[in-house]
Amino acid sequence: MRTDRTFTMLKPDSVEKGNIGAIVDKINAAGFRIVAMKLTQMTTQDAQEFYAVHSERPFYGELVSYMTRGPVVAAILEKENAVADFRTLIGATNPADAAEGTIRKLYAASMGENAVHGSDSDENAAIEGAFHFSGREMF
Ligand code: RTP
Ligand code: MG
Repeated sequence: MRTDRTFTMLKPDSVEKGNIGAIVDKINAAGFRIVAMKLTQMTTQDAQEFYAVHSERPFYGELVSYMTRGPVVAAILEKENAVADFRTLIGATNPADAAEGTIRKLYAASMGENAVHGSDSDENAAIEGAFHFSGREMF
């Protein structure tokens, strides 16, 4: 299992607010190489499957509506220790708890609309990357 890749989505609120460029700048400045990137809109079925781990949680329906209401920027990122370093860069799930300078502190409105996704393990990074990209779309 490789440990130098993670998967991210700039969530619909980031696209709506015109924050793609600013967030990609932060990702580049933190030393991540972009392996794959595209604008794509998830179907309800896609989002239900992507977040299946949360299917019993009270916020699941809201999460699926949020993640499907418009396009996201999906990307695979490469850097040593990618999963943990990217989660440090994005900050806590709730922007109120996120450290100064993190992407969620800067660009997230709330726990429910928190600007960006980051994989939580090397295994999930591989699964989530393959969910969105074919081999020919990875560089
Ligand atoms: P993500 O998977 O999107 O990177 O976020 P995360 O690991 O920081 O948080 P996770 O626990 O995996 O939750 C997934 C997403 O569900 C929404 N959420 N809402 N209202 C709530 O209590 C609540 N809790 C989680 C957030 O959009 C969160 O990013
Ligand atoms: Mg998560």
